[in-house]
Amino acid sequence: MALSEYFPERQFRILVVDDHEISRDLTRDMLHLRGYEVWTAGNAEEAQNLVEHELPDMMILDVVMPGKSGIELCREMKDSTRTRLIPVILLTGLNDPRAKLMGIEAGADDFINKPINAQELFARVKSLLRIKQYTDELDNAEAVIMTLALSVEARDAYTQGHCARLSQHAVAMGRHLRLSGAEMVALRRAGILHDIGKIVVPDSILNKTGALTAEEWGIMRTHPMLGEKICRPMRTLEKVIPIIRHHHEHWDGSGYPDGLRGEEIPYLARILQIVDCHDALATPRPYKRALSREETRAIMRRETAVGRWDPELMPLFLNLMDHGLLEH
Ligand SMILES: [Fe+2]
Repeated sequence: MALSEYFPERQFRILVVDDHEISRDLTRDMLHLRGYEVWTAGNAEEAQNLVEHELPDMMILDVVMPGKSGIELCREMKDSTRTRLIPVILLTGLNDPRAKLMGIEAGADDFINKPINAQELFARVKSLLRIKQYTDELDNAEAVIMTLALSVEARDAYTQGHCARLSQHAVAMGRHLRLSGAEMVALRRAGILHDIGKIVVPDSILNKTGALTAEEWGIMRTHPMLGEKICRPMRTLEKVIPIIRHHHEHWDGSGYPDGLRGEEIPYLARILQIVDCHDALATPRPYKRALSREETRAIMRRETAVGRWDPELMPLFLNLMDHGLLEH
């Protein structure tokens, strides 16, 4: 079900930037008649002041303006993480193929020839705003999931900062392994999201100081699969999902939920396992004190020797620890 179904219809805000007053007012009036809220600016600087204050849902920029051109303004908008998702339509002259090429290169989403044809304007605005709405929903959904994951962490007084440390350590390992940008992003997100499925585990189990009963273990062990289910609808989390599902597998096949062995376990999941194992040993838990650096190292080595962790990744992690590239 789309998130928009839970939110009332909203009015889209379109910023029209054109130095030519008559054509600016004409564009404004046409969009106004279609029910859009329209802001106008006579040049790029004025537009930037408006955007700094509040974000529009779309920008329509004239290419030729005194001072900063529409193409330059478009490039700046697309380079900034705050404004890059706002669709931009450039208004170009009929016989100006060069402006279109430069506009594409600057990240413009669409073009409209001047003088503006009203039907063309409405069609393009409508289609870009539909995409913008999906992007906003995705953004909102992702933010909700991240917050949910952190609220799961907050239920457990012993794991404060655990997610942030895992993200940081997994990314540090990824950097040394020269992983791609997309893989690094997946690891960073997985650090926060890996235990989101614990939302169904009651506090009495999560914070239990003694050993868990078989039944309690059964509940605890569902969290990777439930985490996968929660994140599955988000296409942006595609690379994170295998990490969530498999972060409790063991190299020797003794882990859960699928009992995968060795390289059957996704590579990124193996990285997260090692940093997770380290964090569990090095920080206090309801059932144990924080172990010293030496104790932590000794256990991680021993567990790798008996086949629990990736025998190539673990030495790399210990090496990074030795060189002070990870916080203890
Ligand atoms: Fe977990």
